[in-house]
Amino acid sequence: MTNSTVDKPKVAFFDTNPYDRIWFDKLNDKYEFIYFDSKLNEQTARLVSGCRAVCAFVNDDINARTVGIMHKEGVEFLAMRCAGYSNVDFRAAQGKIKIARVPEYSPYAVAEHAMALLLVLNRKVHKAYIRTRDFNFSLTGLIGTDLHGKTAGIIGTGKIGRTFIDVCRGFGLNIIAYDPYPAPDSGIKYVGLDELFRTSDIISLHCPLTESTYHILSREAFDSMKKGVFILNTSRGALIDSSALLDALNDGTVRGAGLDVYEEESDIFFEDHSDKIVRDDVLSLLVSRPNVIITSHQAFLTDEALQNIAAVTLGNLDEFFEGKPLTHEVTYNPKSGGVKEHSTHVKK
Ligand code: NAI
Repeated sequence: MTNSTVDKPKVAFFDTNPYDRIWFDKLNDKYEFIYFDSKLNEQTARLVSGCRAVCAFVNDDINARTVGIMHKEGVEFLAMRCAGYSNVDFRAAQGKIKIARVPEYSPYAVAEHAMALLLVLNRKVHKAYIRTRDFNFSLTGLIGTDLHGKTAGIIGTGKIGRTFIDVCRGFGLNIIAYDPYPAPDSGIKYVGLDELFRTSDIISLHCPLTESTYHILSREAFDSMKKGVFILNTSRGALIDSSALLDALNDGTVRGAGLDVYEEESDIFFEDHSDKIVRDDVLSLLVSRPNVIITSHQAFLTDEALQNIAAVTLGNLDEFFEGKPLTHEVTYNPKSGGVKEHSTHVKK
């Protein structure tokens, strides 16, 4: 080992998969990454010993106890390699551990995946793929609907929601949207949630998970929807009451659901459970439905997004270790009890 390797600051990297390392290893020459397959939680937090910084992801459980252990072990900086942070206790971290994130890595990756889910569901490509591999060339049961002229209701018109709107416009869809903070001069037609539920043929979720958006697609919401609506969720699982979604699929209110996220995903997604029994009845029922497509929180997974995640996270680490202000810091806001994002955009 050379002296320069010895002197490199150590960063504990949790919930690591082979695809995470590609760009981090390619772009990094300043840090010693200690990669752990396990998720960061109260049981694994002691592994950070000797590291001033930790790199974590969406399903790590960074609750007050996890924060407390990391702080005790000498961690000063948490670099989230994702945009969302509903899994972090900012109040507990206040004054102990600084936190930064990657506010944007590729809105195109997520928006394009949302459209992929819709197209597969609507035109039953998943069924056709399996049929034709078995030389079954029957078309029975494969009827879809033209998207052109239908109405897409977008909940959340931030970076990803607006990118998805652009994609939808290319298909000739009419757009309506709901967002408590409408995008000025965007030309988007904003409506109330009630109207969006009542009139949309497709509903796509692009808002963060907060107290006010938890189960925004509730049983009551499903009851008020147009019969035959498609539901898309590439944001966070707990935006949907999954049991209510199952009932809405059963009674035909929902024609199809494309889910990249699931409210109880944290112990299931990103891992191979094919040789085990997954003890989640709601997920098992959803998986078994031919009109539900579930992907394992993969909407972000493009070359471009992975490269941006690594580049911005390394930039966040550089700012911290060089004592500079953190461009993408997120802090606890004692006044509101929520958080304050210190940036929303990444220079590409
Ligand atoms: P963003 O911060 O640019 O936009 C979020 C929008 O939601 C904002 O316009 C905000 O005003 C709006 N919003 C806040 N509260 C709302 C409410 N109660 N109802 C409706 N809208 C509300 O975020 P961005 O980058 O567009 O990401 C959206 C979500 O996508 C993230 O919160 C994250 O959960 C998810 N995501 C999922 C990924 C995946 O791989 N599946 C990857 C990246 C993000």
